[in-house]
Amino acid sequence: MANTILVGAQWGDEGKGKIIDVLTEDADIVVRTQGGNNAGHTVFIGEKKFVLHLIPSGILRKKKTCVIGNGVVVDPISLVGEIEGLRKLNINANGNLLLSETAHLVFPYHRELDEQREILKGKNKIGTTKRGIGPAYGDKAARTGMRVIDLIQPDRFADKLKFKIKENNEILKAFGARPLSFKKVHDTYREAGDYLKPFVTNTVVFLHQACRRSDNILFEGAQGTFLDIDHGTYPFVTSSNTTAGGACTGSGVAPHLMDTVVGVMKAYTTRVGEGPLPTESPEIADMLHAMGREFGSTTGRARRCGWFDSVATRHAQMVNGIDELAVTNVDGLDSLDVIRVCIGYRVGSTRYDYVPNDIEAFQKCVPVYAEFPGWKTSTTKVREWKKLPANCRAYLKALAELTSAKLAIVSVGPAREQTIFL
Ligand code: GDP
Ligand code: IMO
Ligand code: MG
Repeated sequence: MANTILVGAQWGDEGKGKIIDVLTEDADIVVRTQGGNNAGHTVFIGEKKFVLHLIPSGILRKKKTCVIGNGVVVDPISLVGEIEGLRKLNINANGNLLLSETAHLVFPYHRELDEQREILKGKNKIGTTKRGIGPAYGDKAARTGMRVIDLIQPDRFADKLKFKIKENNEILKAFGARPLSFKKVHDTYREAGDYLKPFVTNTVVFLHQACRRSDNILFEGAQGTFLDIDHGTYPFVTSSNTTAGGACTGSGVAPHLMDTVVGVMKAYTTRVGEGPLPTESPEIADMLHAMGREFGSTTGRARRCGWFDSVATRHAQMVNGIDELAVTNVDGLDSLDVIRVCIGYRVGSTRYDYVPNDIEAFQKCVPVYAEFPGWKTSTTKVREWKKLPANCRAYLKALAELTSAKLAIVSVGPAREQTIFL
């Protein structure tokens, strides 16, 4: 497998968790490199459902090392909860999970500020997960953040936190929000710090040694290309680089050591939160929601749904250098007579075959569609490419061609075995 970066090619929730879990079979190490517990990656093992937020989805396979890299923002209370939650399901993270010393921390004031800023924005809100992600990355960029290395050193932590609570309480007061108690935050975070200390290490050195041993490393992207802080639909984005480059900066593994980029995308499009989604279709949304699908793994919000947008995925191919495609949720389209695919955008008489940078132009884009005949058969039990209905194969081939990448994996259900390799 060598070193593989896996990214979401759309707006997040493409089924990355499922594909990571499948690919982990051949990996030695799985690394999260960006984002925080805004992510929700679902993995089914038999009937058991696991939703991972900070811990790499590789944790569900034995003898794999999972790394939370320097580029991740970590809410330590949430991480302890996740480790404990797995323990209750008989999955032991001790010894398999490493936490970077230099990952930044998320504090209650980040969550509170996230919420207050959203309230202030009113109808222009981003629709964040309210996990404090934006303010935590804001502190990191402003060089006023605190890191895991601070959390595990009691005196240093107390000193830095005192200052941060004082500063943020002034801001919270200005918002009309309740100030935080230093003691309460300090004590709960120090307790989490003691719990997490055995997991903390220099993950850059660890990963460098793994590369020298030629271990197979899988880099688990969170969110998706159009939520990238640089390449997404700004400001309706998250606060990290969700695209392939983020795997290098968020882990300390150099770009020339990366071998393959896998782009995960649904056979249609979904988005949670606000911002443009040109192919949004209430018809598709109603159908999928009626099937009990497309409700957020982190916040439970109903996801917005639309037709597959090949202008967007082609852009994702370009920005990430996607070599191979994993198309998930193909079974979601099993019942349709006709399936539409966006092949271009129109604003008045202007035609776009790329994603415009101007958010206002993007918001006005009207999709130009091609139509494909449906296959009207269940695909959930199919395990071989050749056994997929001919119309389904034609549809998937067209998605790959339009995206300009090689189709490598097709997923026809949430379970491990519902996966077809080409
Ligand atoms: P992630 O954030 O990219 O890991 O995706 P989520 O876990 O948030 O959302 C993807 C949803 O689709 C989850 O409920 C998965 O169990 C489910 N899923 C993934 N692949 C398939 C598939 O091929 N078919 C079906 N029916 N569900 C899938
Ligand atoms: P996974 O890894 C889908 C969205 C939020 C919001 C925007 C900013 O499961 O694919 P944030 O809380 O990050 O400041 O919110 O980004 N968002 C996601 N949407 N999947 C995710 O993660 C997401 N993480 C954040 O809904 O629109
Ligand atoms: Mg998700």
